[in-house]
Amino acid sequence: MQLRALEKRISFFYICGLSMILLLLSCFFLWNTSNDSLFPQSVLVRMLANNTSFAWKTVNNDSDQNNHPYRKVSPPGPADLNTLRTEISLAPATGSEDEMRINSRRLCDSDHASLRVYMYDLPPTFHFGLLGWKGRAGQLWPDVSRVSSIPSYPGGLNLQHSIEYWLTLDLLSSDSSVDRPCSALRVMNSSDADVIFVPFFSSLSYNRHSKVHGKEKMSMNKLLQDELVRFLLRQEEWKQSRGKDHLIVAHHPNSMLDARRKLGSAMFVLADFGRYPAEIANIKKDIIAPYRHVVNSLGNESPPFDGRPILMYFQGAIHRKDGGAIRQELYQLLKDEKDVHFSFGTVRRNGISSAGHGMASSKFCLNIAGDTPSSNRLFDAIVSHCVPVIISDDIELPFEDVLDYAEFCVFVRASDAVKKGFLVKLLRRVSQDEWTKMWMRLKQVSHHFEYQYPSREDDAVQMIWGAVARKISSVRLALNREKRFRQSSLDRRS
Ligand SMILES: *[C@@H]1O[C@H](CO)[C@@H](O)[C@H](O)[C@H]1NC(C)=O
Ligand SMILES: *[C@@H]1O[C@H](CO)[C@@H](O)[C@H](O)[C@H]1NC(C)=O
Ligand SMILES: *[C@@H]1O[C@H](CO)[C@@H](O)[C@H](O)[C@H]1NC(C)=O
Ligand SMILES: *[C@@H]1O[C@H](CO)[C@@H](O)[C@H](O)[C@H]1NC(C)=O
Repeated sequence: MQLRALEKRISFFYICGLSMILLLLSCFFLWNTSNDSLFPQSVLVRMLANNTSFAWKTVNNDSDQNNHPYRKVSPPGPADLNTLRTEISLAPATGSEDEMRINSRRLCDSDHASLRVYMYDLPPTFHFGLLGWKGRAGQLWPDVSRVSSIPSYPGGLNLQHSIEYWLTLDLLSSDSSVDRPCSALRVMNSSDADVIFVPFFSSLSYNRHSKVHGKEKMSMNKLLQDELVRFLLRQEEWKQSRGKDHLIVAHHPNSMLDARRKLGSAMFVLADFGRYPAEIANIKKDIIAPYRHVVNSLGNESPPFDGRPILMYFQGAIHRKDGGAIRQELYQLLKDEKDVHFSFGTVRRNGISSAGHGMASSKFCLNIAGDTPSSNRLFDAIVSHCVPVIISDDIELPFEDVLDYAEFCVFVRASDAVKKGFLVKLLRRVSQDEWTKMWMRLKQVSHHFEYQYPSREDDAVQMIWGAVARKISSVRLALNREKRFRQSSLDRRS
């Protein structure tokens, strides 16, 4: 009942959003059916599946803007997140590629999969509805076997935390004809599952719905979290394990702020532990997932040592709270070095493409603690094959049980980094051979940090499922230990 009332309320607030989306879609449709469209449909879809270069070109290239349907709908505004809000949109299909079905090749069943996942059928308000998606009556999930029917996640900085979206899509595609690696399999009976997935798009909910509008008492973000807590605590699955085998994605450091304490026994998928007390989030039970990078991946066109004139690159905000004071100190130390790029800037219209270009022209990229120990900058550096220099004593790194970051990153203690001359001397001493070794390793590992649909072998989605699977035995151990005394309580009753 409560969920239904909530849905009604939310759909009311969505009418405006939906009409905007319809307008966008019709523009898109017109654009795609015209003969002189900029990209053929298939190219567009391929680009979207691999990378976001299309989205960034659309947003960042001024000379492009008059040719582009997005621009006609949303004129350039102030340089803030909203102007970067063009999406990795999956356009409606037309003509011969009508269905764009992704062919099946492999069989994926309980015997082949390494992780069996049960997913709650939450109403769309908690997931794709937040993206403006509306299915037919009673339809909870988009049809993921047709790329054209999958709603897009907003681009720009929202994209960094889109992990919830890629994981959910991958689960949905596990029982369809989509060709994908068979690591996680969605099962329909929770008693067959290793883990229970909670499909709430918490980062999007935080990014888009944290504001209280007009007469509302509570933001939609808070409302959804309250509903979610109520829902979960009622479920038999939750009661049985007290949530220990539940997987909740809360990648934005501020997402699930209201619910995290009440749901703290679950496994979280997080960016870092910076804003969590240790009893709620810790490396024993939780998974660190990479940010979705926002600069374009370099692929094979990666400049080698000689093609990277800048020794050290950093671009970011200077005034940061908490652990970030070190940025200021480093700036004073480094600002006069000639082959060091150290500048401060927020992500503006051209910020992302210039950062991508800067990183691809640099040998080393600094990753300095900001207001959280992690940031997307590390993952931007990795896909730019710019050797990360990590100056963040408390950083937690994704998949560190299977990846040796020392092979492709340089770690520097914060206390050393602020010694005069230390950092520059250290990095200048790295020989071309040593650097090239790290660069080659970066090229080998960067696919582990890619999110895409459909997911591919060993990409970020698969790495996350792998990390979850490795936690399962310790979850089972804990649950079975708790059962030890159930028998004796029966004895007592009899
Ligand atoms: C992009 O994806 C398509 C299939 O979706 C694939 O054929 C193509 O090789 C990919 N390109 C790159 C650069 O990964
Ligand atoms: C992104 O995809 C497009 C289309 O497949 C391709 O031309 C481009 O090279 C890709 N970029 C990267 C960095 O993979
Ligand atoms: C911007 O668009 C123009 C025209 O489409 C193109 O020639 C130019 O290379 C683009 N610049 C960037 C940075 O993508
Ligand atoms: C799920 O599986 C359990 C155990 O195999 C079975 O008892 C139960 O009836 C199943 N539930 C449904 C809805 O099929």
